Amino acid sequence: METIIRHGYPDECREVENVLREAFWDLYRPGCNEHYIYHQLRQSSAYIAELDWIAETDQRIVGGIISSKAQVVDYNGLNHPIICLGPIGVLPAYQGLGIGKKLISKSLEEAERTGFQAVVVLGDPAYYAQFGFEKASNYHIRASEAENPDNLLVKELRPKGLEGVTGKVLFDPAFQVDEKAVNEFDRDFPAKQKKEAEPEVKESNRDEDQKWKRYNVIIGISLGIILGFILFGIPQKYLDDGLRLTIMLVIILFFPQIFEKKFQVKFRLGRLWMAGTLIFCTILFIFLKLI
Ligand SMILES: CC(C)(COP(=O)(O)OP(=O)(O)OC[C@H]1O[C@@H](n2cnc3c(N)ncnc32)[C@H](O)[C@@H]1OP(=O)(O)O)[C@@H](O)C(=O)NCCC(=O)NCCS
Repeated sequence: METIIRHGYPDECREVENVLREAFWDLYRPGCNEHYIYHQLRQSSAYIAELDWIAETDQRIVGGIISSKAQVVDYNGLNHPIICLGPIGVLPAYQGLGIGKKLISKSLEEAERTGFQAVVVLGDPAYYAQFGFEKASNYHIRASEAENPDNLLVKELRPKGLEGVTGKVLFDPAFQVDEKAVNEFDRDFPAKQKKEAEPEVKESNRDEDQKWKRYNVIIGISLGIILGFILFGIPQKYLDDGLRLTIMLVIILFFPQIFEKKFQVKFRLGRLWMAGTLIFCTILFIFLKLI
């Protein structure tokens, strides 16, 4: 089975979009939007015709890859040109046959030949390592979003291609997908069933958990400080030190349970921080008494 990697003809565009749609369908979310991104990129000023490749096997298009112009904006607001690899997709029935590897290798070769300095991709580090991609964070390059995903990868196409290039990656606006537009665009393709939107729910639960963990720490420390001040601020004549320490132990042991019950929330992490802060206050109190 021979695979040819070549540029597509304009009238093959829809077929390539369909290949991407089949490759990405239900993979990272219900349905997919990569075929739409490909469509948008082809009409964008970021489009690079030399880096738009398709794979043909058995006289049919079985894979496609596109790259686009992007920038790394450094902390002084300077733009460093870079290219963004992908989306790339191979029809499920043809995956694992080396077609993806051929498409990526061809794209990288051509990008290097055309004179681009470096390339960025959002992809599986385990897969892209074979092409020489490394974590973008090794170069102090991060995604535009607040969080830096582990799957943001970069590769120098020339020695020192990323020298002095640090900052945030600015992808072409074609990657900012409007779901309504994707659904509209999808109507021109064969009907396909989407899986349930379960991952999104999980994601939002995880976000909530993360948020609550942060609150736990803040509330724990704040309570520790307030209780510490009240407890150790009371003069010796009203409260002797033995009683003071006993009250502190009782608070550490029972207060979090009361708090959890009253507000119906988990406070395990907060309890640790509160106890830590109170212990710190005790040490400070003893230290101040000694000097
Ligand atoms: C990723 C994709 C383009 C690779 O194309 P392919 O033709 O299947 O890949 P190849 O045949 O060249 O390479 C297959 C090898 O890569 C490995 N591989 C494929 N996807 C991988 C992944 N996500 N992580 C790690 N290894 C992966 C396979 O295990 C296989 O290894 P082997 O050769 O040791 O058996 C294709 O699987 C695909 O279209 N996937 C769905 C869309 C997608 O995820 N695109 C990439 C988003 S960045």
